[in-house]
Amino acid sequence: MVELVLPRNSRIGKGRHFKAPADAKKIKTFKIYRYDPSTGENPRWDTYDVAVDQCGPMVLDAIIHIKNTMDPTLAFRRSCREGVCGSCAMNIGGRNTLACTHGWEEVPGKEVQVSPLPHMHVIRDLVPDLSIFYAQYASIEPWLHTKTPTPQSEWLQSEEDRSKLDGLYECILCACCSTSCPSYWWNGEKYLGPAALLHAYRWLIDSRDEETGARLDDLEDPFKLYRCHTIMNCAQVCPKGLNPAKAIAEIKKMMVERVV
Ligand code: SF4
Ligand code: SF4
Ligand code: FES
Repeated sequence: MVELVLPRNSRIGKGRHFKAPADAKKIKTFKIYRYDPSTGENPRWDTYDVAVDQCGPMVLDAIIHIKNTMDPTLAFRRSCREGVCGSCAMNIGGRNTLACTHGWEEVPGKEVQVSPLPHMHVIRDLVPDLSIFYAQYASIEPWLHTKTPTPQSEWLQSEEDRSKLDGLYECILCACCSTSCPSYWWNGEKYLGPAALLHAYRWLIDSRDEETGARLDDLEDPFKLYRCHTIMNCAQVCPKGLNPAKAIAEIKKMMVERVV
């Protein structure tokens, strides 16, 4: 029988265990992925018994508490702490989500396992390298393309046309969807992924945009668009309740409609 194991330098080791302070009234255990490529050491799981009576209700509150009171070496991203900036996206209890809007009590099981967004290069600890993700977003040219002369005041849009952007403009580019998409895992450098494609659709259906044909031409590619196999992980994990899979299906429909 074939025995499959990870290469030695990919195995995640057991790390340090940080105990809660003696005055803790309620304790929750966090198991957190740690990795610092500059050391040449393998990644490890560090365990923290957090006095959750001394911090706020969200996973991000607990992580900030760990950094401030238990282990200042822990690296992670965060900014707004209210689900707006997208920077605290990570994998919590096996699911990609925002640490600032996900309560530690919502995580089933005895301990809360936290790791970086999956299938991305890790810069350090919970910080993934999102360079390709952002380059893909830039590649769809997320701004208004027009040919007619710029109006004196503003580009007008009817209420009905504006409402077509609902469910799209709210995306905060957290990357939870793209990094939960199996097609993106395997072809992350060629397939644009659900987040970039959701934004591509947002500009394709903007009534003020005058480059719809060129935008579709750019997506007409075996990898950029058609690697989506409607697995729907993206819609399941989006912390803003958006549906990138539906946007992708609409782009495919536009591709067909323009040739019939
Ligand atoms: S529906 Fe498409 S984009 Fe969404 S997870 Fe599945 S393959 Fe990826
Ligand atoms: S669609 Fe949702 S999950 Fe994907 S990047 Fe936007 S907000 Fe994040
Ligand atoms: S810190 Fe901004 S979305 Fe979580």
